[in-house]
Amino acid sequence: ASNRIYRIAVIPGDGIGKETVPEGVRVLEAAAKKYGFELRPDHFDFASCDYYQRHGQMMPDDWKARIGGHDAIFFGAVGWPKVVPDHVSLWGSLILFRREFSQYVNLRPVRLMPGVPCPLVGRKPGDIDFYVVRENTEGEYSSVGGRMFQDTEREVVIQETVMSRTGVDRILKFAFDLAEARPKKHLTSATKSNGISITMPYWDERVEAMAKHYPGVRWDKYHIDILTANFVLHPDWFDVVVGSNLFGDILSDLGPACTGTIGIAPSGNINPERDFPSLFEPVHGSAPDIAGRGIANPIGQIWSAAMMLDHLGEPEAAAAIVRAIERVLAEQKLRTRDLGGAADTVACGKAVAEMLD
Ligand code: NAI
Ligand code: MG
Repeated sequence: ASNRIYRIAVIPGDGIGKETVPEGVRVLEAAAKKYGFELRPDHFDFASCDYYQRHGQMMPDDWKARIGGHDAIFFGAVGWPKVVPDHVSLWGSLILFRREFSQYVNLRPVRLMPGVPCPLVGRKPGDIDFYVVRENTEGEYSSVGGRMFQDTEREVVIQETVMSRTGVDRILKFAFDLAEARPKKHLTSATKSNGISITMPYWDERVEAMAKHYPGVRWDKYHIDILTANFVLHPDWFDVVVGSNLFGDILSDLGPACTGTIGIAPSGNINPERDFPSLFEPVHGSAPDIAGRGIANPIGQIWSAAMMLDHLGEPEAAAAIVRAIERVLAEQKLRTRDLGGAADTVACGKAVAEMLD
């Protein structure tokens, strides 16, 4: 008997989430068999617009009790703007998970894969391989502020950035730990302390203090403007890039865009203390324009499954899934049509499961 038993809350959500999540689960089950751990998936129909249409809300009142005890959440995508406005569906589900489960790390790998045309000229697989670590709970995305003298000449709007020592230090610690565990041991901090003269110098100060605990990690910092330029011009310079909520948001879309397609990009919303389950999902949304046709690329979902296994303490199985993804992407007939291939969602998912070594 194995004590490597993982209870996973599986939530497909809307649109192509219903097509990609089963492929993720297929690959997870194949990995469990090969690597000798046990998966206990529980399937939930909430956090979807279908659920909203039946119940008038995105999730049941006791959602936290229903999934709070699981080891992780495996999520598809939420959103069906024709029936529920996006801010309602997003704030009624994903944002609640991130806040209430204290998933203060948003982690996105940026990696150029074989078979994916790179929009940056002359780059090949191996040239681009880094992580963006985004602070996911505070910073620029605060609810502190307000509007005064509305609809008059004196109209004033203010929104404050909130940086707490706890909030800044914990994201930096996660990023330095990650950098220390990687071969290059290199951390880059995104700042703007020349223009934003209170919070960003504070961020820099905390980076410097945290770096003292990691003598083996080489670190540098760039202002966000030149940093975005360097993502495009010198993506090979980076290993782990850490940023505040806003800067991390921008970098974590720009990074995957530099590697070709959002159809394959994965992400983790992580509570490193494991007080709550972490959530793993593809970067893409529910893609209403192609939903229901069985043609969605399942790789972003499957790669998210690999990140989840890494988090759960199964790094070998996780690495095997990423290798299998690389093999599948390298073969045109196994790729989905967004990558110029011929495979449908299920064929691509099955191919990854079969390629596991
Ligand atoms: P989207 O990512 O759903 O789609 C953008 C474009 O990329 C579409 O043309 C789509 O067909 C294509 N695409 C996306 N994923 C693909 C895949 N796996 N394979 C092949 N093609 C793929 O973004 P969009 O259209 O802005 O949003 C649609 C809905 O998804 C909205 O309701 C939005 O709020 C929601 N959304 C949810 C997210 C989440 O659950 N984390 C993230 C982003 C959007
Ligand atoms: Mg974004």
